[in-house]
Amino acid sequence: MTKIRMTPQSSGERTQRSGLLALGLLLGGVFQVGNAFAQSAPKPDWNTADIPSQAGRIFLVTGGTSGMGYEDAKALAGAGARVVIAARNPARGEAAIARIREAHPVAQVAFEAVDLADLASVRALGARLNTTLPRLDGLINNAAIMAPPERTTSADGFEAQLATNYLGHFALTAEVLPLLRKSDAARVVTLSSIAAARGRIDFDDLQSERAYDPYAAYAQSKLAGLMFAFELQRRSEAEGWGIQSFAAHPGVAVTELIERGPGLDSAFGRNWARDRDQYHSPAQGALSTLYAATAVEAQAGQYYGPAGDDERRGPLGLATVPAAARDADTAARLWSVSEDLTGARFPSRKR
Ligand SMILES: NC(=O)c1ccc[n+]([C@@H]2O[C@H](COP(=O)([O-])OP(=O)(O)OC[C@H]3O[C@@H](n4cnc5c(N)ncnc54)[C@H](OP(=O)(O)O)[C@@H]3O)[C@@H](O)[C@H]2O)c1
Repeated sequence: MTKIRMTPQSSGERTQRSGLLALGLLLGGVFQVGNAFAQSAPKPDWNTADIPSQAGRIFLVTGGTSGMGYEDAKALAGAGARVVIAARNPARGEAAIARIREAHPVAQVAFEAVDLADLASVRALGARLNTTLPRLDGLINNAAIMAPPERTTSADGFEAQLATNYLGHFALTAEVLPLLRKSDAARVVTLSSIAAARGRIDFDDLQSERAYDPYAAYAQSKLAGLMFAFELQRRSEAEGWGIQSFAAHPGVAVTELIERGPGLDSAFGRNWARDRDQYHSPAQGALSTLYAATAVEAQAGQYYGPAGDDERRGPLGLATVPAAARDADTAARLWSVSEDLTGARFPSRKR
């Protein structure tokens, strides 16, 4: 079984890692510093020009109407893939497709409506895709909302961030697993965040009913996504599903996430707006996901993100895995709770 590589945690180790990274750069990107590192680190200047041809491959990108998801869809379509963008708003979908076609006139890109905060909608999308697509070569679990000031609930009664960012993607992955298994090299990339490091899976109050802190609920949802990515890889290996699972985060990128979440006039929004010139563009933020989705050398079970400025921006690297995300027992419990909450079932030899 492939081991998930745990990146160093202490500041001393992190400093050492930065030093090793610099040394690697000096050596022209050839890493010879310990086997795991040598095998795992992406080329720091990897960019969309390095995406191998995706002709003949089919991708589903959730939240491809703006931000990183849009950039994922555009780059994948530009590399020859057939791309399905799944999000809520058909008008935003059509606008995204028009913009992609401006850049890539022969892009094969389509829109499918889905509300990830509504399990009936997720199941309906799964049913449509299972009848219309021959297979799926890539699923990018990207859509999210962040820190709405007031607690709201999904169509199924779940806290909205957990529902959208995590449970909807858990259910969607189960829905399209049959399509992914028809591919001979399917990849699932799940978006997390540096916020996951502040997250805790609170099984006693998973839906933030007792206490709602918008940022804690976001962090929990992003930690859940990260644990899901690792658990999906472990289960795929154990159950022989033949798919590869990756995690990625964009650092901090200037997208619609803040405006549509806490709002630009919130304390968080004002701080964010003050520093926005320093953050990644959505295209830069998308590189970690695109690397995980397409690079031949990307390794299943890894977590990719920018390597500079405490992973807020900078060249592509291995992301730090928060200690909580390494807890395989909690990940297994979360998986089981998620199956119960969503009714989604992944095939298991044990059942
Ligand atoms: N921006 C950052 O600095 C940052 C940092 C760390 C991690 N991330 C992660 O990066 C990913 C992309 O975020 P972004 O920053 O690009 O945000 P964004 O610009 O706000 O895009 C979010 C996308 O999610 C879709 N979406 C939201 N709720 C949905 C729902 N219920 N059902 C279906 N689609 C839904 C939206 O589409 P419609 O509104 O058209 O439905 C939109 O396309 C997220 O997973 C986020 O957590 C972002």
